[in-house]
This record gives sequence, C-alpha cells and structure tokens, in this order.
Amino acid sequence: MKFHCEEKPILWGGATASSQYEGGWDKGGKGMDTQDCRPYLVRTSNATTETRLLTKKSVNESKKDKLKFYPFRSGSDGYNHLKEDIQLLKELGIDIYRLSISWARLYPNGDEEEPNIDGIRYYDEVFSEIKKSGMKIFLTMTHYALPLYLVEHYGGWTNRKLIEFYIRFAKTIFEKWGDIIDYYLPFNEINAGYFSPYNGVGLLREENKPYNQSLVFQSLHHQFVASAKVIELGHKLVKGKFGCMVACFCYYPYSCNPLDNMKLVTDENTNTWFCADVLTRGYYPNYMTRFFEERNIEFEVTEEDERVLRENTADFVSFSYYQSSVTSCEEKEKTAGNLVVTTKNPYLKATEWGWQIDPVGLRVTLNKVYDRYQKPIFISENGLGSRDVLEEDKTIHDSYRIQYLKEHFEQIKEAQLDGVDILGYIMWGVIDIVSAGSCEMEKRYGVVYVDADNEGKGTYQRYKKDSFEWYKNFIKSEKERF
Ligand code: BG6
Repeated sequence: MKFHCEEKPILWGGATASSQYEGGWDKGGKGMDTQDCRPYLVRTSNATTETRLLTKKSVNESKKDKLKFYPFRSGSDGYNHLKEDIQLLKELGIDIYRLSISWARLYPNGDEEEPNIDGIRYYDEVFSEIKKSGMKIFLTMTHYALPLYLVEHYGGWTNRKLIEFYIRFAKTIFEKWGDIIDYYLPFNEINAGYFSPYNGVGLLREENKPYNQSLVFQSLHHQFVASAKVIELGHKLVKGKFGCMVACFCYYPYSCNPLDNMKLVTDENTNTWFCADVLTRGYYPNYMTRFFEERNIEFEVTEEDERVLRENTADFVSFSYYQSSVTSCEEKEKTAGNLVVTTKNPYLKATEWGWQIDPVGLRVTLNKVYDRYQKPIFISENGLGSRDVLEEDKTIHDSYRIQYLKEHFEQIKEAQLDGVDILGYIMWGVIDIVSAGSCEMEKRYGVVYVDADNEGKGTYQRYKKDSFEWYKNFIKSEKERF
C-alpha cells in the first residue's frame, strides 16, 4: 500500500460578536444586556487577566451612570455600517462570516412570548446582506451577552427556566433564517462560564464574595442541556450543522517533573476538555466526579437531561486559540492569556497583553482535539490583538499581524498533513471590535481598522490595514490552488 497525506481546501473566514461590534444598544427596541453594563476602565497591568466581574450593586449603578463610558453600547457602530462592512468582507473574499445574534435585540427581556419586530427587521437585513455577498453564515447564538432582565429576575443561567426561553429564541432563529444559515454555535466558548461566570452564565457575585461554585456548575449544566435541546430541535427544522466551542489554552508542562505533567492532565481536563466532552460525547467525563466531590459541588441533573445530552451531540467541534499555556507545580513568573493566567514560557514571545504567541501550539491543539473527538473541526477564533497606528495618510502598517497569520496558517496546513479534518479557519475580530476581556477598543484584531478610541472618540470610519490585502491575496491563492 502506498501512503499519501494531503492538504484540502478549507473555508477561510472572519468573525465578530454582536455585543462587541453592533452598538445600537438602545436602538430598535433592544433590551439592555450583560455586556452593556461593563464600563471602560484604564488597564493597570498586563500580567493578569482583567475580569471586571460585576456585582448587583455595580450593575444597578451602570444603568443610571451617564458619566462613565460603556464601550459595548457603541461597539464598532456596526449597527450603522452594515452595508459598508459586508461590502468590505466581500472584497476581502472570505468564504464564511461568523457573527452572533443579540438575544436582547430579539427578545428584549428574554422571557417574552413573541419577538421584537424591529429586532427581526434588523436581522432580516443583516442576513440578507450577507447572503447577497455570497458568504456562508456561521451563527453564534449566544456570545456572552444575556438579556439583563434574565439576570436580575431569574438569576441568569442558574435558573432552569432559561432553557425554555432559550429554545423559544432558537425556534425564532430557525423559523426566520433557518434556510440560509450554514453553521450554528449555541454557545461561544462554553467553558468561559467557569472562568468568567458573569460573562458566561450571567451570574452576579455578592459584594466581596467569591462565586458559589455549585451555582456556576448548575448554570453550565443548564447551558449544556439548552445546547443539546437546540440541536435536537435544529436537526428537525433546519439543514445547518451544529457545533460546540471551547476556548483552548494548549498546556505544556514547564519541566519533565512528573508532577508538572500530571498538573497538565488535570488542568487540561477541567479547563478545556470537560465542556467539549459533555457536548460531543453526550455525558459527564469520569474525572469530573472527583473534581466535584473534592470541592463539595452539587447540582441537579435529571434523567431527561441525561437523555437529551446523550442523544444530541455536536456535529462538529470548534475552538478559539490565541496562545499556549504552561503548567508548573512550582511558583513561577506568570503572564496573562485568554481567560486564564498562566506561567511564562521562556521560548515564546508575548503580545503587549501578555498572551504568548505560539503557532505550533495551534497544530498541537488541532491534533489533540481531532484525536479526542474524531469530528470535523472549525478554528472559530484566532488572531492577534495589538495596538495599531492610523497614519496621517490613513494607512495602517500591521506587518506583525501578517506574520502572525502566516505562521499560524502554515501550522494549519501541517495539521492537515497530520490527518486532522479541518472545516474552516475564522479570524477573530476581522473588523476591529471592543475587546471582550479588557473592554478596550485599542486592542485590535481586525484587517479593517475602525477609527474609535477607548473612550468612544473618533469617526468610526473604516480603513483597510496592510493585512487586508495580505489576507485577501492569501484566500485568492488558496482558491486557485484547489
Ligand atoms: C474570546 C472571545 O475569548 O477571545 C471573544 O470569544 C474575545 O469575544 C476574544 O474578543 C479575544 O479576547 P479579548 O479579551 O482580547 O477581546
């Protein structure tokens, strides 16, 4: 037998999320959501992840506060730049656009019987513009933002009622746009609920108290069941494929000390695989029993929940990948990363925000994910957050982003030769958006520059960066190759 490995064509894309991109927070009948309450705060350090978790008190204050700037309320003003932005993405030549739909724009409080007509009208226009441009649609149904009413009146995802409201929201999406959406993601980075419960599951902390872990896992469990029920319904009503998504941190042991390696196994299990295991295998992995027992974590799981999870697993697996991480059983110098704080890796350079740049880690992650689940994979987020400079002649020379993309794309191709089944690559924040972690506009990921600063000052005009031409040519040459 002669053996042969080969690269295959994949979908090249770009992504935004409604809360970080749309703005228009009080337009067209939209309800307030959890992200609308997060203020811009000056960044103090790059060594820790700025979580900015809100309490009942600060949420209440944010509703009345007219002085502070709330970046998510403006986003990138996508609400007023729809046609122009879709035209730019068309010119870029991407095959697929990942966007999220705002639950609070469709159901302002979240528990209404009928959707908001203006919200439907807005998304009718959004989806038809994308479709006209020829791009496929990858829809994230929840990307952190939860109607605030559900948090204040139901306790966020701690409450089982949210599953019912979520299914109603999903049914509306299927009925209105089910014939044009290609891929669905019920929850963005579902493991974020564990690291960042306010963003992930809409949980408010009591002042000066840590989160109640039983409530965190009860909430996550409700999201697992909601995700499986959405898949159950979706498979009956629409033709699109359904995925799950986790944030991947790609752990390396700091040394060959067996304890560093054992720590890698447990960190990776609980921080990354746990949620994907439930959603792709259909049951809780054994290692979580010990985790829950040792922490006295208890939550309700019904027999019906177990059936729904078992029978409705994800069609594909997706993940975000920005940086690799290091496990060490000794105290070592730390650095920030997406959602996690980790040990510094002496072999890697990091971004200004401390995230350790590691293209090979992407290949490692692709191999591990495929090995574990044997399902097709979407890299649903990847990219470089950096401070770009708009020159006087309105050009932006982001050679560092081009280098980042080039090196990561090389590793995607290597992973294909390793035999990994990759459906697509989606560049994060393809048009500059507000950072989800640190609430800044100046941490930019896009190939399109949006002229706005951390305090919302600027024209919000769009300018193509050097990386725009580079990504465009890359996609074109990929099309010619296959
Ligand atoms: C992911 C999120 O965690 O990372 C995105 O899904 C986020 O919403 C992205 O924007 C990058 O993180 P940040 O904090 O740089 O915006």
